[in-house]
Amino acid sequence: MHILVTGGAGFIGANFLRLLVPRHPEHTFINVDKLTYAAHLGSLAPIADRPNYKLSRTDIADREAVREVFAQYKPEMVVHFAAESHVDRSILAPEAFITTNINGTFNLLQAFRELPQGHGKLFHHVSTDEVFGSLGETGYFEETTAYDPSSPYSASKAASDHLVRAYHRTYGLPAKITNCSNNYGPLQFPEKLIPLMILNACEGKPLPVYGGGQNVRDWLYVEDHCEAIWAVIHKGKIGETYNIGGHNERKNLDVVHRICELVAEEEGLPLADVQGLIRFVEDRPGHDLRYAIDPSKVMRECGFWPKENFESGLRKTVRWYLENTQWVNEVRSGEYRQWIDKNYGARA
Ligand code: NAD
Ligand code: TYD
Repeated sequence: MHILVTGGAGFIGANFLRLLVPRHPEHTFINVDKLTYAAHLGSLAPIADRPNYKLSRTDIADREAVREVFAQYKPEMVVHFAAESHVDRSILAPEAFITTNINGTFNLLQAFRELPQGHGKLFHHVSTDEVFGSLGETGYFEETTAYDPSSPYSASKAASDHLVRAYHRTYGLPAKITNCSNNYGPLQFPEKLIPLMILNACEGKPLPVYGGGQNVRDWLYVEDHCEAIWAVIHKGKIGETYNIGGHNERKNLDVVHRICELVAEEEGLPLADVQGLIRFVEDRPGHDLRYAIDPSKVMRECGFWPKENFESGLRKTVRWYLENTQWVNEVRSGEYRQWIDKNYGARA
């Protein structure tokens, strides 16, 4: 089978390909990626030379280019990860989010519809729980929870989810959607909370906590997310949505404190020195208070169960960032520095 994976050079897409390309030599995986700042080809080094892996540098917002890649590979399946994914960037510069997340998804759906009979068996859309907006102190996001996105990022993902669902209902396009909670693990671009805090803690730089650090995120180890997507692809029902999570709610400040402890332990640094780097900075506008997933549907219908707990997953993640300095240096060159100045310069 030809499986076209968009955004396969980003954090979750690369983890997905690294797990599945070696496991499934019977399938050919075509990675369609624009290679934005968030992509790193070094993430794909372990699979780059496999005969069942191919890379096509393609912008999904370019309709003609998308048509051409579909005409060339005639995929049976699309797994759609490609997106602009960072909330803070969407606040400072929303346009790319509209272009990639909405228009890009539209182009993929159109190209998928134009595939010859017998191809195009499944369009799997990877989305986020942020489409549901914010929870209060209690309750969970269920598949039936109303959409109420707060940021340009989550609004653009909500729009893409609606398009996928509409194409299923209107044109019978065979689609499934997964909405997952916050991921963490190896290969995540260090603009996101966990890798940013790990690297700053190691380097003695400030640890910028937005507001009072009381916002809650529901963390899932990235490989668990990838396994869940694969389980939904095989066991989920066409036209259905599945929420993915592992009941791992943590306040941001608690996550940052735990990272400080792990970094101090791994690097042999005095804990008080590392914790002393914490700085409370100006809050994110429209900052959602709490996310928490009810994963009972994906567990019941697809047999998904997370393997990693937060403690072991966070330790693995800290070690990965400490050991992979070349990867870190490469992704942090150039554009990264400008982003850090722009985002945190205004908040300090
Ligand atoms: P990421 O930012 O690390 O990677 C995104 C990838 O998409 C990069 O390789 C980038 O080059 C590519 N891309 C961006 N614009 C493109 C375009 N126009 N054409 C082709 N490729 C393009 O993102 P991620 O964290 O790996 O997230 C992947 C998907 O999972 C996204 O759809 C995101 O909404 C969703 N998701 C992420 C999380 C999370 O915690 N990271 C949680 C739930 C869902
Ligand atoms: P982030 O990793 O950007 O993911 P998302 O916004 O998609 O949940 O942020 C996770 C949480 O951490 C979120 O509540 C914002 C907060 N945060 C900080 O406090 N400081 C930071 O430097 C960053 C990047 C995020």
